[in-house]
Amino acid sequence: MSPTSSVAERERRPAAAAAVADEARPAAGPGDAVAERVVVLDYGGQYSQLIARRVRELGVYSELLPHHVGAAEVARRRPRGVILSGGPASVYAEGAPPLERELLELGVPVLGICYGMQLLAVALGGRVQGAETGEFGRSQLTVSATGRLLAGTPAQQSCWMSHRDTVFEPPPGFHPLASSSASPVAAFESVQRQIYGIQFHPEVVHTPHGRRVLSNFLFDVCGCSGGWSADSVIERQVGAIRAQVGDGRAICGLSGGVDSSVAALLVHRAIGERLTCVFVDHGLMRKQEGEQVVAAFRDHFNVPLVAVDASERFLRALRGVTDPERKRKVIGAEFIRVFEEQAARLPGVRFLVQGTLYSDVIESGGGTGTATIKSHHNVGGLPEDLELELVEPLRELFKDEVREVGARLGLPERLVWRQPFPGPGLAIRVVGGEVTRDRLEILREADAILQEEIRAAGLYRQLWQSFCVLPAIRTVGVEGDERTYGNVIAIRAVTSDDAMTADWARLPHDLLERIASRMIGEIRAVGRVVLDITSKPPGTIEWE
Ligand code: XMP
Repeated sequence: MSPTSSVAERERRPAAAAAVADEARPAAGPGDAVAERVVVLDYGGQYSQLIARRVRELGVYSELLPHHVGAAEVARRRPRGVILSGGPASVYAEGAPPLERELLELGVPVLGICYGMQLLAVALGGRVQGAETGEFGRSQLTVSATGRLLAGTPAQQSCWMSHRDTVFEPPPGFHPLASSSASPVAAFESVQRQIYGIQFHPEVVHTPHGRRVLSNFLFDVCGCSGGWSADSVIERQVGAIRAQVGDGRAICGLSGGVDSSVAALLVHRAIGERLTCVFVDHGLMRKQEGEQVVAAFRDHFNVPLVAVDASERFLRALRGVTDPERKRKVIGAEFIRVFEEQAARLPGVRFLVQGTLYSDVIESGGGTGTATIKSHHNVGGLPEDLELELVEPLRELFKDEVREVGARLGLPERLVWRQPFPGPGLAIRVVGGEVTRDRLEILREADAILQEEIRAAGLYRQLWQSFCVLPAIRTVGVEGDERTYGNVIAIRAVTSDDAMTADWARLPHDLLERIASRMIGEIRAVGRVVLDITSKPPGTIEWE
């Protein structure tokens, strides 16, 4: 989308930008080198991250900051615009997050969404009240004047609402643009003051013209040019990594997951052979997973790779261990030992590459520098006394952007789209008994059949995770004329957005039948297959 700002708006922009630029220098943080950014202030709404992602999808770098960071912090980032998110509170409730008036004096356009709009309305002299009925879900929007914000959208359109309070009168000098059955003023604007508000959620897919509304704000109102893309990320990160690492050497623990893989590829592109990747095969991976990582990195990308087959060590350490937490501790500790041994063999390494994502940064305080950043370990918890400086090239990216960058860098599709897999691997899926080579083998074979069939059915990407569990029980069966006494395999497949909640996946019956008969037919030790139909909560995704 190309900018369509009027001459007046274009002339106003540089002055506005200068007003912000005159503030202190930008804070160090994710996206520091990005020329053009929009700040999304999070008032606790369930869609706040989604707003930030939608802005990026439109080609503008966005940062999500907690609402309380303060206008000075926002100004330091020199945003082209500020978006105030929705939130669960009533603007009149005690302790409700307030609007900091200085945000309206930064000289950049402000868009309030839902709670954000109500904050603007109250602060500027409009009238907000509890509506007789709340409005939740799909609603019909009647646009009386498109104004600038709703330009190019139809007079009648559906949108997604989620609110009880609503704006009854816009602030003096503001133009109402739209209404719905429960929202007399569902959108307002003052072009002159550069303040805009919408009651509905443009970021959710159920608002079909939401993308247009956001792009009106970003390109027409804020004057953004939209150069943010996977390619621009690669280019900028490669520069940033070179600047940080200089002529130093770096090490990266590869887990086979998309985050560490993409981080490694970016660093390799920046510093070439001065990066060494270490892949610790703990023997708890799925079938052929280790080979795939080695084939991609060593053979295809020519990344210096140390692949350590440490399966004997891990199995020895796990001998007699059945308690789930103890298993995790044993595996974590062993992992550190193996990794340290390898690091010690690489002289002169000063940097450790980690695949920390923007969601981790947000979780630990939004990268504002005010909260301690949680150290995030993809591969099993590395010791602090390694005394390596962290290189975190994915700190500004959401997961879907990491995948896009990975695809651009040529990462095989299988690695780009790999479902999450826990660090302790299959060990926490051998449930209730000791983790032995034999039991791992049964589980690995069953898991391979499951993955193959799920992929063949075209369902792999739709599922958050799909895997098998091997509980420590045997059941009786009959095969031919023989009585059998075989193992049970449980199938676990869930849909989820973030693993915080999950629903059990309704896999087609014929697919389940195929999976079960293949497992029983092809793996002698398997005598029964069951399906886990527990959602999270109350269950967890993994069994232990
Ligand atoms: P639960 O079982 O708690 O899992 O619903 C949520 C997500 O976390 C993964 N998981 C782990 N990942 N080490 C990891 O790296 C672990 O010990 C671990 N336990 C669970 C799980 O696969 C799911 O994606």
